[in-house]
Amino acid sequence: MLDDDFRTIWLKPDDESVVQIIDQRLLPHEYKIEDLSSWRDGLAAIADMYVRGAPLIGATAAWSLYLAARQGGMTELKTAADALISSRPTAVNLRWAIDRVLDRVKSLSDGADLTGAVRADAEAICDEDVEISLGIGRHGLKLLKEISDRKQGVVNVLTHCNAGALATINWGTATAPVYLAHANGIDVHVWVDETRPRNQGSQLTAWELGQRGVPHTLIVDNAGGHLMQHGQVDIVITGTDRTTRCGDVANKIGTYLKALAADDNDVPFYVALPSTTIDWSARDGVAEIPIEQRDSREVSHVRGAIDGNVVEVATTAASTPISNYAFDVTPARLVTGLITERGVCDASEAGLTSLFPEFA
Ligand code: MRU
Repeated sequence: MLDDDFRTIWLKPDDESVVQIIDQRLLPHEYKIEDLSSWRDGLAAIADMYVRGAPLIGATAAWSLYLAARQGGMTELKTAADALISSRPTAVNLRWAIDRVLDRVKSLSDGADLTGAVRADAEAICDEDVEISLGIGRHGLKLLKEISDRKQGVVNVLTHCNAGALATINWGTATAPVYLAHANGIDVHVWVDETRPRNQGSQLTAWELGQRGVPHTLIVDNAGGHLMQHGQVDIVITGTDRTTRCGDVANKIGTYLKALAADDNDVPFYVALPSTTIDWSARDGVAEIPIEQRDSREVSHVRGAIDGNVVEVATTAASTPISNYAFDVTPARLVTGLITERGVCDASEAGLTSLFPEFA
């Protein structure tokens, strides 16, 4: 199922009025394809987390704009853009994709094919994302190979949340180096953080590593520090939902604690990211990145399967007060390096602009 040709979003074969996605809320218990027939379906898919992960959120927004253009031309496209932009506040790829499509259509002459232009852009965003992930994979592979050569043994990677194929169009960000290492015969093993409250680690990352035959072990979120103290983690690689131009990294809640533990144990802590996740307008991540707060039900309930049927069960008293911050910010000083499609750099403005001089 999850192979080199895998895609997380696509236009339905033989029906250009429908975009298709995987309902990721049901994984790993059920693999269900969902139809998006309107931009409002796309909005719901993003807001209700049928799709998630910064690059896929951006791509879904672009395809939603295609559906809007198809339905009601420029007026509907602008209405859709306004509604989509605030559906997931932390993941900056959403804003990036919407701005890219709006910029593109601005330059169209009267009578031009609006729907065709937006479709071409949505397709390009997806195709480019696959190439970007592969670029991240090739650069990250060198880091894993260095560890493998030095250690002459299994390379233990720890990751948090899902920064895999399912969070992108294919290959993933944090997982791309792992997939390429595995394919190149490097002995690699991944510690997968469960990632409460939505369990993207246990439900998505573990599933997709299994699909590709990569050795992995699921751990509870608080186990990483212990493993690092006992020399069982060679490198941490996570993804990010927004990284500032100075290298501060917003990622799934709990990432900051992993970075602190890595720092205390001299374990290299890398963040893998496409350039589309860099917010060049922001410097100080803690002060400037909006942190999404999600439904308390994600904390009070756990989703799983009983006899193959996906169900939710309560784990707390209904009266328990809950807060549910979905992301945190890891300051650049705790990040060993950023793995991008153009290479690996320091988590700093100088590091990022050395790879992306057009933003200097
Ligand atoms: O809330 P989600 O599932 O959309 O969050 C996704 C993450 O935080 C991932 O860790 C990921 O790194 C960012 S996308 C590659």
